[in-house]
Amino acid sequence: MLTPVNGDSIVPDVLVGKGVTNDVFQNQIKRPLFNQKEHAELDEFILKQTSIGNQKYQDSLRRSLEEPEEFWAEIGRCVTWTKPWDKVLDNTNEPFTKWFVGGELNACYNAVDRHVLAGHGDKVALIHDSPVTKSIRHITYFELQDKAKFTVFDYQVSKLAGALAKMGVSRGDRVLVYMPMIPEAIIAMLATVRLGAVHSVVFGGFAARELRVRIEHAEPKVILAASVGCEPNKIVRYKDILNEAIATSSVKPLHCIIYQRYNVEVAELDPECDMLWDDAMVMSDPHPCVPVEANDPLYILYTSGTTDQPKGIQRPVGGHIATLAWTMHAIYGMGKNDVWWTASDMGWVVGHSYICYGPLVYGITSVMYEGKPDRTPDPGAYFRVIHEHGVNAMFTAPTALRVIKRADPEVKYGSQYSTKSLRTLFVAGEHCDYDTVAWAQRMFHVPVLNHWWQTETGHAITAVCIGFSHSLNPPKYCAGLPFVGYDVHVLRPDGTEADRNELGRIVCKLPLPPGTMSTLYKAPERFLQVYFSKYPGFYDTMDAGFIDEHGYVYVMARDDDVINVAGHRLSTAALEDVVLSHPDVGDAAVIGVPEPTKGEIPLCTRKTESNIIRELVRMVRELIGPIAAFHVAAAVTGLPRTRSGKTARKSIADLARNRFVKISGTIEDPTVYKEIKAVLQKLGYAKTAPDPQ
Ligand code: COA
Ligand code: AMP
Repeated sequence: MLTPVNGDSIVPDVLVGKGVTNDVFQNQIKRPLFNQKEHAELDEFILKQTSIGNQKYQDSLRRSLEEPEEFWAEIGRCVTWTKPWDKVLDNTNEPFTKWFVGGELNACYNAVDRHVLAGHGDKVALIHDSPVTKSIRHITYFELQDKAKFTVFDYQVSKLAGALAKMGVSRGDRVLVYMPMIPEAIIAMLATVRLGAVHSVVFGGFAARELRVRIEHAEPKVILAASVGCEPNKIVRYKDILNEAIATSSVKPLHCIIYQRYNVEVAELDPECDMLWDDAMVMSDPHPCVPVEANDPLYILYTSGTTDQPKGIQRPVGGHIATLAWTMHAIYGMGKNDVWWTASDMGWVVGHSYICYGPLVYGITSVMYEGKPDRTPDPGAYFRVIHEHGVNAMFTAPTALRVIKRADPEVKYGSQYSTKSLRTLFVAGEHCDYDTVAWAQRMFHVPVLNHWWQTETGHAITAVCIGFSHSLNPPKYCAGLPFVGYDVHVLRPDGTEADRNELGRIVCKLPLPPGTMSTLYKAPERFLQVYFSKYPGFYDTMDAGFIDEHGYVYVMARDDDVINVAGHRLSTAALEDVVLSHPDVGDAAVIGVPEPTKGEIPLCTRKTESNIIRELVRMVRELIGPIAAFHVAAAVTGLPRTRSGKTARKSIADLARNRFVKISGTIEDPTVYKEIKAVLQKLGYAKTAPDPQ
């Protein structure tokens, strides 16, 4: 337990003069305390870590790799620990690397309470901008933590944590969150980690089957869901989808807490298992933060791999929140009074890291947007949000920019708003074409900076770092320089190092820095096999790319059977699984083909004689979800299969992209390519592709 030093006041500004003493406040919130001075020092410290410029970058990168214990100990200080670590790095069981071993902390304390204790309770933590419900909510750090005054909403993370505790949730238990883009999703996440429990957020665009798979794997004690989500063209009935998932699941939660969106549509509850969010709040007391060990899991986040079983990325708490807080300045150049906006979904890693934990642990204002780039109500929406909330930097997926560019290339809607508060626009999630970058730079009047990362890493592997004064005019198409902590290499298939500018597999030398995944939940063997078996001593990113003579990294495409549709990562195997479940389909291969707005969409070639495209589209929407954007399929009589039974998907994808395909000697029947090429051409692909040989 930490106590205030020198008798400093720890009472938040809003309570000063209202008879609240240090003791009363400390009792009321019942949790370990730091004093204001220490918090101010921590904030200063983060800024100092990165403020010197390019030499500082080279030095930091070198030190992070060559003197990791010393370097990461400094970064560890970006957050508040209730118990200092015994050892910075334990790499005795690589790749199950541990950072800040023995240290104890709580993520919710760092994201909420410590800012209140430091006197920043009045600062706005979240701005929820929801054109789909025509509402804007501002939530301060104090409101997040404790009783919200003069408002109909009850935001208290501490009370929701109390409700979860009453339902039996404790350290290490899993809590599943299935919600649209509303602040309650973040409150649910923070309340879970306040107890030392582990959240698993499931993206709202997934269908009941995908939700069921995640419930069965994570075995949550409690599920927190909203009644509905709002899409421009429809109401998504989250509660009905949840009911269906639970009904077919072999694992049943003890309870569900349902947040009714009274202003949209009210769902019917099951009195046996469901409890209203409001009732849960009323019936519970605030719960203190429960410190956990640095390597305890903060959350599980499922992502698509090369099989139809999603991988549960397990994130360690200590290294992750320390690194995220630091990146807010090191990469994104955020000052302590800035407004930050990540236009992504809480269901993706980008939402976890940079709508919730990064900005909140760093203590700034984070905008959460429940809308689209174009139809809510028009393509000026992003410009309005920047103008209205004074956004200083934002982060989105290239596909969102392409949506605006397609709908309003001259920015007629956007030009009525000012973007003068904006300094930088970051993009990631998929390959970004230079046309879109150049267009966005002209229209938003700021540098558009590409960076590369993955669910597995939780923050950028390569970036143009504002905090390290990297050039804001990097080479076209690159994704920046390796971020501190990553020893990035490009390898040839035989494992030898590729030359500069030579395309190969991008890998990172072990150990990975703090904050990256610690394992795959309940699947350590799969963790070893998927990421570390092909190139021993390296983390295999499964992305293809190259490094130029100046050290800039270029990421071209996934090198495995994963496709990227509008920034959503999808497994071709999962799509094939659905298609194959149709009685008329004998065999199928799904590949990604280029699409101007979404970057890539799935295309299915399958062995069948009947015309069942509509049925297949319906099945994929029902079983995977509409985000798969599946609508292109064609019948063939044969598929390229190797003698060991593997489908040579990459060769079909190459053919569709007009690339030369050299037929591997292991393909059983090379004649199938002739028909496949003809079929692709009918669909508008492979127009100039040479015949495979
Ligand atoms: N809940 C329920 N349904 C959802 C949903 C959600 N959270 N998100 C999308 N959907 C539905 C849409 O309504 C649509 O349904 P429809 O086919 O019946 O019309 C379908 O899924 C396809 O959605 P999407 O491909 O996402 O298109 P969109 O027009 O709804 O959104 C973008 C366009 C650019 C906003 C969206 O693709 C996006 O946010 N992409 C970036 C993803 C991302 O952030 N990745 C992380 C890296 S930054
Ligand atoms: P996800 O784990 O869903 O965030 O998806 C990660 C994948 O998205 C990476 O493996 C890449 O294939 C792709 N990706 C992310 N950022 C970029 C980028 N800047 N350029 C190219 N591809 C990217």
